[in-house]
Formats: sequence, structure tokens, C-alpha cells
Amino acid sequence: MTNRLMLAMPGNEPFATQLAESVGAPTCAAVWRRFPDGETCLRIDTKVSGAEVLVVCTLAEPDPQILRLLFAAHTLRDLGVAKVTLIAPYLAYMRQDMRFHPGEAITSIHFAKLISDAFDELITVDPHLHRYKSMDEIYAIPAVVLHAAPLLARWLRDNVEAPLIVGPDEESEQWVSEVAAGAGAPFVTLRKTRLGDRDVRIVLPDMTQWQGRVPVLVDDIVSSGQTMREAARQLVADGWPQPVCVAVHALFAGDAYETLRQDVGRIVSTNTISHLSNQISIVALISDALSKPRT
Ligand code: R5P
Repeated sequence: MTNRLMLAMPGNEPFATQLAESVGAPTCAAVWRRFPDGETCLRIDTKVSGAEVLVVCTLAEPDPQILRLLFAAHTLRDLGVAKVTLIAPYLAYMRQDMRFHPGEAITSIHFAKLISDAFDELITVDPHLHRYKSMDEIYAIPAVVLHAAPLLARWLRDNVEAPLIVGPDEESEQWVSEVAAGAGAPFVTLRKTRLGDRDVRIVLPDMTQWQGRVPVLVDDIVSSGQTMREAARQLVADGWPQPVCVAVHALFAGDAYETLRQDVGRIVSTNTISHLSNQISIVALISDALSKPRT
């Protein structure tokens, strides 16, 4: 079996250390520094030739991260690795999956090409597949897609009595239905219209049959927090208690978390992105995937 090493990209060390321990892979040492003019210098200090290197980088801040990530992957190849695998618990640039306005870049395609050219395989958790039905529509490398729904369902079973799972928009039905089935709870989806980056309108269906249950908003991503916030406000206006919010990817841009807290009860997320709302670990999910035969 190929020797495996784990390389944590800057900022990913705590997660990568947990994963490395779970997988039993030694870590790969890298030194990053900047030249006086701001360019990046990278040195790999571990012998990597012939190994599979698992590069851990959650892509919550993709623009500053991508160049270093590409440098790392291409350097590892130069140094003779057998395989370079990207473990991106959160994969960015999946939502721009069409030209929403004339002249806009479909960045999901361009980002996928950059990653596909540099890595041999991608492992990720709940990428935002909406108009794309599978990763191979834009990724040219094998992609292992893991699902956090069973973990969210287990957290709900342990922590919320009589939940009603609420998807804030129709596209959330795919994961909301799975979470609801796992939690043994009913689900509904709301109707969302996005008017701008931070402007959404949400309409509730008739939910009277579920009165008495605890509303739990479940979404894949919280970014500006406006989707969760508007959904919570509409629920409260309709006579429901403040909902529990559960998300896979806690992006929480700017002050989104503090703002959302004003309108909801508890906020819980997985640790695909390090955040103080993290309560559900996906380390075992990834390490289980790594223990199975892959390409
Ligand atoms: C929709 O495309 C996603 O599933 C999320 O609902 C969306 O990304 C949340 O964005 P925000 O927190 O900015 O409303």
C-alpha cells in the first residue's frame, strides 16, 4: 500500500491533526514564507517521493487560498509524489453554477479546472450540487462526495425533542429530507426568492399540522445568514418559537453569526469550517472514506 502523508495548508492545522491521528498518517512538514515583494516561497521538508499526499484545505476563503494550494500541489508533483489528493471539507465556488446576469463568470467551472489540473482526487463534504447533478459535470478528477446528513440527524435525535425539519428553500429538500428521515421527524420546505446577495424573501406553506414541534432550520451553507434569518423571522411571525439552526458549512461572513443569533435559538454546525457554532465533527466521516478502497 502507498505510504500516506498529510499536509495541512495554513489555517487547517487543528483539523488536519485530528484527521491525521484518526487515519494514522504522519504529517508532512511545509514551510511557507513571503519574499519581501509579497510573493510566496514554499519548501516541503518531508521526503514525499512515492507517497500519496493528502492535502487538507477547507476552502472558506478561496481567493487568498487557491494560489498557495496550487503551488503546494504542483510542488508535490515535482517532488515525485505518487498521488496528490485534496481534502476540502468545504468546497468553494459551487453556487455560481450558471450565468445569473449577462456577462457573469460561471466561476464553478473555472475553479473546478484549476483544482482538476493540480490534484489527482478530491474528497469533500456536501458540495452545493444544485444545477449540477454530479461533480463530474465540472471536475475532471474523481471526487468522493461525503454527506453530513446522518450526522446532523444523529445530533437532532440526541438534542431536540419532537423537531420539525424546515428547509429554507426548495433546493434544500435533497438534504433536509435525508436529515428528517434519519431523525425520524417530518419536514417542510419554504419558498425563497433571492433579490440580492443579502436580500431574500421567504414564504411559508401551511404548517398548522406540525404545531407543537420545535422548528429546526437545516441548510447546507450559512453565508450572509440572511436565508436563515428571514426564515426564522417568518416562522416567529407565524407563531412558531425561535428555531434551532443547523448547517453543514458555517461560513458566517462578517457579523452574520452575531446578527443571526438575535433571531434564532441555538445555532449548530459541523466542523467543515472552524467556527464557534461547531458541534458536529466530520473527522470520522472523512477518515472512514480514507479507509475504503479508492481510485
Ligand atoms: C443556497 O444556495 C444555499 O443552500 C444557502 O441557502 C445559501 O448559500 C445561504 O446563503 P446566505 O446565508 O447568504 O443567505
